[in-house]
Amino acid sequence: MGGPSLALGAPAGGGARATDPVTAFDPLELQDTIFGDVRDPFPPLAAARRRGPVVAGPPALLIDDGDASVIAPGAPEFTAYSHDAVTSILRDAEAFSSSILADVMGQTIIQMGGEEHRRHRALVSSAFRHKALARWEHELVRAVVDELVDRFGDAGRAELVRALTFDFPVQVIARILGLPRADYASFQRWSIELISGIVNWDRAQAAARALDGYFAEVVADRRGSPSDDLISDLSIAEVDGHRLTDEEIFAFLRLLLPAGIETTYRSSGNLLYALLTHPDQLAKLVSDRSLIPQAIEEGLRWEPPILFLLRNAVRDREVCGVAIPAGAIVSVCVGAANRDEAVYNEPDRFDILRAPRQHVTFGWGPHMCLGMHLARMETAVAMNALLDRLPNLRLDDDFDAPFVQGTAFRSPPALHVRFG
Ligand code: HEM
Repeated sequence: MGGPSLALGAPAGGGARATDPVTAFDPLELQDTIFGDVRDPFPPLAAARRRGPVVAGPPALLIDDGDASVIAPGAPEFTAYSHDAVTSILRDAEAFSSSILADVMGQTIIQMGGEEHRRHRALVSSAFRHKALARWEHELVRAVVDELVDRFGDAGRAELVRALTFDFPVQVIARILGLPRADYASFQRWSIELISGIVNWDRAQAAARALDGYFAEVVADRRGSPSDDLISDLSIAEVDGHRLTDEEIFAFLRLLLPAGIETTYRSSGNLLYALLTHPDQLAKLVSDRSLIPQAIEEGLRWEPPILFLLRNAVRDREVCGVAIPAGAIVSVCVGAANRDEAVYNEPDRFDILRAPRQHVTFGWGPHMCLGMHLARMETAVAMNALLDRLPNLRLDDDFDAPFVQGTAFRSPPALHVRFG
């Protein structure tokens, strides 16, 4: 989940669109074209990083096309590009707050700071503990992927974004929350509508109200008779004598949708794109499944689903020699940091065998992604299922070469494949 991305996600323009049959919603609406159809943002980001670790002004990509004031009218702006600057800012929550995101999302854990954040994070972390993850992996994530692959596994060809990556994380979250199966279709529709706020603000607000009403009933039910699911865990979790109120649970559940669904849908598409366009590396995975975890990390580094996070400076600070005044808006460019030559050898190369160095796709510091182990596990399960069930997976030559698109949120709009 991210910063400006949440504020700036917008529909792709042009071309005929097929509406998703389950959600009656077009996945391509979630493409981001406010700043144009950006296929390869990395050369301009590298050029900006060469100008300095932190540069005054909005992100390089936005300068040519855009009106920086969409982020912060009137405030001084800075953008961090180097790995060192990005991690320093994200680590320093005392000086660089994420409260600015409240404008976009309402008050949730991601905008909190200090003690309030620590307590909330501890409360919700308990629900994401390793034991829960292990159980979800075996009982639920593989079942979701298998059901989706059942729909097209005999066809010999498929478009994997519509057939798999778009549906898969929302269904995983629905099951983790323990929602009744009959409610999946509405939940999926509200979730997608909620995360498409910029495309249609009224629809997103209506979806938020519908979800709150729905969650109110589910939470009341689980408080009465707890079961074996995340909502029950959240309703009984306790830290320092505190429990989450109903409103805090609704806010957290609302955050999980953009945080846990859109990111994972895009990152799994990006990994598949990377592997399908580097068939030699896909072949390595096919012959050695133990490479899956490092392939996932390399995919996240090379093509992160979110390029920027957002912070507001609440104290004067010097970062990598650049003075950032209190009141400034700081775009933190994880996409540039992940390709910093000071940290990664030949950073533009997708190489699943490269020596592991931690990327910043999950953020850094106190707000670092709470769902990263779940995201990694989901992606590993999906990759294993695809390799098990779609032998000889390859791009479909009947279609144009795939591409990744977007500035704030990035992923391939389509991945046409053949198999068998
Ligand atoms: C590949 C998939 C994912 C990516 C790339 C990702 C990325 C991120 C990033 C960059 C942050 C920090 C944002 C900031 O500092 O401004 C974050 C926070 C968060 N993520 Fe994720 N995320 C992913 C999947 C998930 C999943 C599956 C969940 C849960 C179901 C989740 C839940 C959260 C939560 C709750 C936070 C807020 C943590 C806090 O403020 O303490 N994320 N994520």
